[in-house]
Amino acid sequence: MKILVTGGAGYIGSHTCLALLDAGYEVAVVDNLSNSKEESLKRVQGLTGKTLEFHKVDLLDKRSLNAVFEKSSIDAVIHFAGLKAVGESVSIPLRYYHNNVTGTLNLCDVMGDHDVRTMVFSSSATVYGDPQTVPIKEDSPLSPANPYGRSKLMIEEILQDLHRSEAGWNIALLRYFNPVGAHSSGLIGEDPNGVPNNLLPFITQVAVGKLSELSIFGNDYPTPDGTGIRDYIHVVDLALGHIKALRILASNPGIVVYNLGAGRGYSVLEMVSGFEKTTGQKIHSKIVARRPGDIASCYADVSRAQRELGWSSERGIDEICADAWRWQSKNPDGYE
Ligand code: NAD
Ligand code: UFG
Repeated sequence: MKILVTGGAGYIGSHTCLALLDAGYEVAVVDNLSNSKEESLKRVQGLTGKTLEFHKVDLLDKRSLNAVFEKSSIDAVIHFAGLKAVGESVSIPLRYYHNNVTGTLNLCDVMGDHDVRTMVFSSSATVYGDPQTVPIKEDSPLSPANPYGRSKLMIEEILQDLHRSEAGWNIALLRYFNPVGAHSSGLIGEDPNGVPNNLLPFITQVAVGKLSELSIFGNDYPTPDGTGIRDYIHVVDLALGHIKALRILASNPGIVVYNLGAGRGYSVLEMVSGFEKTTGQKIHSKIVARRPGDIASCYADVSRAQRELGWSSERGIDEICADAWRWQSKNPDGYE
């Protein structure tokens, strides 16, 4: 069975390509390399001893995308390709809507033309916005607070409409919480452009000496230690969730929605002390003002994924910190 992975050279995509090859799937990747390097896929092939097809194609270029489907016999698609920086989406919203929404429309058109109707889509916990209660269930109110999140919700709704309109579409909408960590080899991991926005890459770059100190965005939230609480999920566990989703779509056709998280929250201070304890690295930090748009607490109810997919996260905070640090210390400049 051959899986087309859009955005497969990126952070979550590269870990998922590795999991797919290990599980015996054939893999074709489409990526425009706007936020990734082909080196990640070379390393995936080295780690698995297997080859994959790589097509440097933009989803906005429908003709080239069509040519990939003409050449390769694709059975299903895992769709990661998209822009993901929340702050940037506020300043250049049209680029986000065009890339994420139009890219998905092109992909669905080409899939339909080639009779490929199985898709696993990367959605995000950001579709819930500021949750009224935690843990968050899949049927909680949806209220994204920025253009990035709204592009994810629009795509979810488009895919729901597509499934209603035409028999044969099998779709899994996977809402990721906070993907972190790296493959245990230290050969693939997250390689953000410029100064990282996210907590864990920021911590590892302080530890490796690329950044001088971590700014902790607020200690006056209504949480036990006053800092923000999130649900950190190891990227390898997340990747394995995609394989479970492909399997459920094969045995139980339809449209499904799952939260993929660890199902418990950690505060910023807990993440910093967990990282220090696991790695022995001191993280210099200071408390600064809250970051605009941040929420106090966000973590998943993962019981539906446990029950229906037979999936749950296995790697805890110690493994997340050890793996993130192995990747950062072995590759201080990422894939460069
Ligand atoms: P990433 O940026 O590392 O990977 C996305 C990949 O898509 C990149 O390789 C990029 O080059 C490619 N891409 C972007 N636009 C494209 C286009 N038009 N055509 C072809 N390729 C294109 O990001 P990631 O962290 O691996 O995230 C993967 C998916 O998961 C994204 O859709 C993201 O929104 C979603 N997600 C990520 C997080 C997170 O915190 N990392 C959380 C929730 C959801
Ligand atoms: N934080 C800091 N200092 C930093 C970075 C983050 O204190 O330098 C704090 C934040 O305030 C927050 C926590 O660490 O309390 C986690 O922040 P991240 O930026 O790592 O993650 P977010 O939950 O804010 O955002 C992530 C993704 C978004 C996605 C969202 C919901 O980056 O794309 O999860 O799924 F929309």
